[in-house]
Amino acid sequence: MKAKTMFYCTACGNELPKWAGQCPACKAWNTIVEQPQESRRRGPSPGPEGHSAGSRPRPIAQVETARELRFETGMRELDRVLGGGAVQGSLVLVGGAPGIGKSTLMLQICEHLCRFAKVLYVSGEESERQIKLRADRLHVRGEQLYLQAETNLEDVVESVRELGPDVLIVDSIQTLYHGDLSAAPGSIGQVKDCTMALMQLAKGQGVTVFVIGHVNKEGSIAGPKVLEHMVDCVLYFEGEQQNSYRILRAAKNRFGATNEIGVFEMGDSGLREVPNPSEMLLSGRPQDTPGTCVTCVMEGVRPVLAEVQALLAPTSFNVPRRTANGFDFNRTNLLLAVLEKRGGLMVSSCDAYINVIGGLFLDEPAADLAMVIAMASSFRDRPVPGDLAAIGEVGLTGELRSVNALGQRLSEVHRLGFTKCLVPARISGKLDVPEGLQLIKVRNIREALAALL
Ligand code: TYD
Ligand code: MG
Repeated sequence: MKAKTMFYCTACGNELPKWAGQCPACKAWNTIVEQPQESRRRGPSPGPEGHSAGSRPRPIAQVETARELRFETGMRELDRVLGGGAVQGSLVLVGGAPGIGKSTLMLQICEHLCRFAKVLYVSGEESERQIKLRADRLHVRGEQLYLQAETNLEDVVESVRELGPDVLIVDSIQTLYHGDLSAAPGSIGQVKDCTMALMQLAKGQGVTVFVIGHVNKEGSIAGPKVLEHMVDCVLYFEGEQQNSYRILRAAKNRFGATNEIGVFEMGDSGLREVPNPSEMLLSGRPQDTPGTCVTCVMEGVRPVLAEVQALLAPTSFNVPRRTANGFDFNRTNLLLAVLEKRGGLMVSSCDAYINVIGGLFLDEPAADLAMVIAMASSFRDRPVPGDLAAIGEVGLTGELRSVNALGQRLSEVHRLGFTKCLVPARISGKLDVPEGLQLIKVRNIREALAALL
């Protein structure tokens, strides 16, 4: 009998009964691939807490609520992102580009974990010897740390049953495969199936599972987004090739908020926590120097701090020279015109050079205010206070307009060590201001300049 097959979209994970050129769900072209459907019949799938079929609806008042058990991983920055430590029996997916330091991070937390828990580190990427060498270099040792180079899921499940670890680390989900499926490791069917099996280990046996997943070029884990909805927590490990700093962010967390970030620095002896990231993200930022201001922009759903710099000097040309790096050129000219007309600074006779530090491109109006302030600061030759950030859109009449996700931006500004923030006076909706952050509310750029310079 011919095995019945299913089709999946490799971009979004959508399941289809037949092939199509375009995915009806995410509209991507040429992403549908065939996957043989499993012939074996498995028992009823377990519920979220490992309960199998036979559960009945219960009044909410009768549901027991044992508080989730948390333990620290020994990395404060990781604990913070997890919402105050790892939850026992949860499955955490750690995603990131190859070479960013996921294996290093996981191996390093073993040092702390294996003091009070039995840890099994399963790697399909490196041999036990390689992991041992790396562990030696990272000064990771411990009686209760077990290594296994394995790619077969059933063997991993068997090892967990025999060894009974409290924590299981799987490096990486793309190398794991289920023998019953004919699809290649890393394919969507395999990745889904293996994650499901690991989820059952977590919920059924109370093992805390960390799963490493490589992010491909499109920026999604294992090609599809399929894993995100299955697991309890999704963390992304990010960083630039040029510098050694790494940022850990939660994209999803069933046990905490997702607006915390963890910051690390990769060095000779592994990852080092950076307790005060404001210094790091804005490292080398000139203090008490005119022409620089910090703002917060949203990169997708994430707030990111950026430093904008401006250099204004009297021109010696007929037409002033203007350049903008990391900022829209036309917007630069517009803001200079507003600054002259509404702010009263004669900048039209100045050359203006604009730069955004860190290779970012700020295409969000929320960065306007910081840009105007950096320009004015350079023009007046007066520095902006170092612990101040500015967020707001500037209109043509010089008025300041509210921006979206202000609460999130303010927590990021506060989180990175700033104590003052310049914001538009009129804010729509209720705003949770982080404790310790002083808001300076201004209605237009004249008020902003008066408040600062
Ligand atoms: P790794 O954890 O293997 O990345 P991933 O598992 O995410 O693919 O980290 C690999 C990089 O980290 C590698 O390019 C070397 C660098 N590294 C250091 O700079 N210092 C160290 O102590 C270690 C262990 C790695
Ligand atoms: Mg690795």
